[in-house]
Amino acid sequence: MVLDKVVLLGRTLEEYRRYFALDIDALRGKEILDVASGVSSFTAEACRAGLKATAFDPIYALPGESIRQRCGPDLDQVIDAVRGLKTYRWEFYRSPERLRGFREQAYRTFLDDFAEHGGRRYVPGSLPVLPFADGQFDLTLVSYLLFVYEDHLDHEFHKRSLLEIMRVTRGEARLYPTVTFEGVPCSYLDRLYTDPDMGHLGFEMVPTDFEFLVGSDRYLRVFRR
Ligand SMILES: C[S@@+](CC[C@H](N)C(=O)[O-])C[C@H]1O[C@@H](n2cnc3c(N)ncnc32)[C@H](O)[C@@H]1O
Repeated sequence: MVLDKVVLLGRTLEEYRRYFALDIDALRGKEILDVASGVSSFTAEACRAGLKATAFDPIYALPGESIRQRCGPDLDQVIDAVRGLKTYRWEFYRSPERLRGFREQAYRTFLDDFAEHGGRRYVPGSLPVLPFADGQFDLTLVSYLLFVYEDHLDHEFHKRSLLEIMRVTRGEARLYPTVTFEGVPCSYLDRLYTDPDMGHLGFEMVPTDFEFLVGSDRYLRVFRR
């Protein structure tokens, strides 16, 4: 687990919808996997909206109360850290206080759903291994784990994780952001695109109208050629 390096911060379905450019109605009946979903409320809200979503993260091996205790301090740390940073654009969130509101709403919604649905929706485990069948999911999402933590997670981890994500995905995967916290494109990307072991995969940067970290106005779409 890289929990001490990766913060426990969750985003809402609305944020996922914006930066992954999700068409919620088109996802009805599809199997969706959210990898490294942590305390995001995406799965809780998606299931409430009638979608079939599964969440995967190492923290789901922990009791809800232990997760709850981490949420407040991690959020305080991040809100303090982003104030005044030049690497963020504030058009969507407008202020650190409003950003905090989104994050609190996400983790509270997650914690309630985790208490109610536990292991059925929330599967514990860690990349680069996924405990799912080949081609089990139509759409796999990865938000704020790969690429952005380039300084903690090496190229080999990214390669093995991407291959494993595409093993369990029969449709496509979307990954966001593709820049580091400094707003610089992750240096692993070019090597991954041209790696012969990835020859069966296609990569496309898809522009969106959402940007928070500088340069994060696009997601990476990965598909089978
Ligand atoms: C910054 S949070 C992102 C949560 C959510 N995807 C979102 O964007 O709101 C990063 C998450 O990655 C999880 N994580 C850390 N190492 C992981 C691994 N090896 N495999 C899967 N998830 C991991 C952490 O537990 C944490 O919940």
